[in-house]
Parts: sequence; structure tokens; C-alpha cells
Amino acid sequence: MSIIIKTSSDIKASEITPKSVYMDRRRFMKQAFASSLLLATDAMLPAWAKRWPDLEASQFNASDKLTPFENVTSYNNFYELGTGKKDPASNASMFNPEPWSIAVEGECNKPGVFNLEDFIKPYALQEYIYRLRCVEGWSMVIPWVGFSLADMLKQFEPNSNAKYVEFTTLLDKSRLPGQARRVLNWPYVEGLRIDEAMNPLPIMAVGLYGDILPSQNGAPIRLVVPWKYGFKSIKSIVKIRFTETQPKATWNERAPEEYGFYSNVNPEVDHPRWSQKTERRIGEPFWKPKHKTQMFNGYGEQVAHLYAGMDLVKYF
Ligand code: MTE
Repeated sequence: MSIIIKTSSDIKASEITPKSVYMDRRRFMKQAFASSLLLATDAMLPAWAKRWPDLEASQFNASDKLTPFENVTSYNNFYELGTGKKDPASNASMFNPEPWSIAVEGECNKPGVFNLEDFIKPYALQEYIYRLRCVEGWSMVIPWVGFSLADMLKQFEPNSNAKYVEFTTLLDKSRLPGQARRVLNWPYVEGLRIDEAMNPLPIMAVGLYGDILPSQNGAPIRLVVPWKYGFKSIKSIVKIRFTETQPKATWNERAPEEYGFYSNVNPEVDHPRWSQKTERRIGEPFWKPKHKTQMFNGYGEQVAHLYAGMDLVKYF
């Protein structure tokens, strides 16, 4: 029996939500919320969080149909706010991402500690429509607001000992109450090889759908690495460290036989407990066939060269 799988190239242009439509919808929602005093008005937002009406589109934007805003912000993995998919949204009000500062440390010439506003000021924000493929077998298509990770890292002038970059999430039980339970070894840590980090695809995201990042999606600043399983895209980052040795990434340390350091999306390498050949697109009706998972999540042209000659079964 063969299954007809709808790929991104089969999606009609009319099915893709044009930006003007969702921006209008967001504007409408904001007005509706603001009038019922449920959402902060612009005046109440932090200084750096101005609205971004006309963002330039990244050259790598996916043309897939966007996952609706409601799904992107209510079906989440953020164990610091609970382990259920709906917990992060339900507990989002417990996490106030202000004030926020980021430390840059390790093998570089220009380390420092920066408040968020100063940290993001040098970069032109763009919109990056990326597929996010979770290791659990589901995916979303999200219009992020962010800037190039490589552009940011270069500012700190990594030296020749910088072979990896390590990222760390805020450790604070009072703001991230899930850290009171030892479900993971806190704080959450992730890492990339320096050449992966310097590839033009990964971004530091500060928003989605044209607005600031909701707490449940990793406010106020997170990583997005679209060719790797979602857990590499660490949320709510407070520290970036250039290192000579491979960082001790949280899920890799927790279960090394299940979650490799690389964790490149690869339909040919199954998770020990399930297949990675297909994925459920969140927000699509349950009767729609699953999507075929693509090598490197469809970004092979941009990243396959990083792994030339590497055994991707061994280095999964
Ligand atoms: N970052 C932190 N600090 N804690 C987490 O639990 N979950 C990861 C990743 N980043 C996680 C995290 C996983 S498993 C996924 S799939 C993505 O965030 C989900 O991002 P989203 O909720 O914005 O879709």
C-alpha cells in the first residue's frame, strides 16, 4: 500500500498565509486584547521590544504553510515551565523575562556581560520562516524574528581555541518553577561545533509572528537551528561560551544513546524507540497524512558539507 504524502512543494500558494494577512490579524488581536486590558500596550513593553512591521525576509525562508500562531504558542516543550505540552503556555505568566542580561565568555577576545537591549542593538532583525522538527516526531513552520547567530558570534572575536559554542538557559527556580523538579540536570545547556554555529542558517530569535517571543517559546532570546532536532534550539539564553571541548549538552548527557550531540534531522537514523521517517505537522487535521521527514530537515544544500566524510549513524 502506498501513502500519498504532501510535501511543501505540493502546497498551493493560496494555502500559504501571506504576511500582510497574519500581520493584520495580529494587529486586530492586539487591539481586541488591549481594549480588554489583557495584553500590555506598546507603552508598557520593554524599550527593546518595539514592533517590527516590515521585516526583511531571510534568503532561506521555507514556503510551507505556516503553523497557526495558536498552535505555535500552546504546544510547547519548555521543561522549566512543566513537562506537559500545554504546561509552558499555562505557566507562562510565572516567567517574567525582565530584566535580562547575557554573558559572553571563554575563548574570545571580547567577552562581556550585556543587557538585552545592548546585546541585540547591532543587528538588523529579519523574518526567518523555518521548519522546526522535534525529535518526538512532530513539526511546525514558524515565522521567527531574529538575527544571524554567526554575525553575533563574530562580534566577540572567537580565538583559534574556540572549537565549540555552548549556550545556557537561565537558572532561577522562582521564575522557572519547573527547575524545582529534577527532571533534567539544570540549567539546560546546548552546544554547536563552531563551524555549525558560523553557518548562515542558525539564528538568535527574539520574536515570532512579528511580535516579541512569548515566555513559553523561550523569551526573551533563544537559539533556532533548523536542520537539527528541536531540543538543540535552546530557550531563554543567559550565557554563551566559546570552548575548546565539546559542551555537555543536557539531553545528550541525560540519555546519550537516545540523543546525540549532533542531532541532525535524519530520516535514516531512527531513535532507539521510534522511527524518524515521518512527522506530524502540528495544526493539521488528524486525517491528513504525515509528512515525510527530509534529510537535514530539508536544509541539506546549506549544511550537508559540514558533515562530509562523517559517519552520521555513529555521530547521530
Ligand atoms: N530549551 C529549554 N531551555 N528547555 C526546554 O525544555 N525544549 C526543546 C527546545 N528548547 C527546551 C528548550 C525542545 S525539545 C523543543 S522541540 C523546542 O525547544 C520547542 O520549541 P517551541 O516550544 O518554541 O516550539
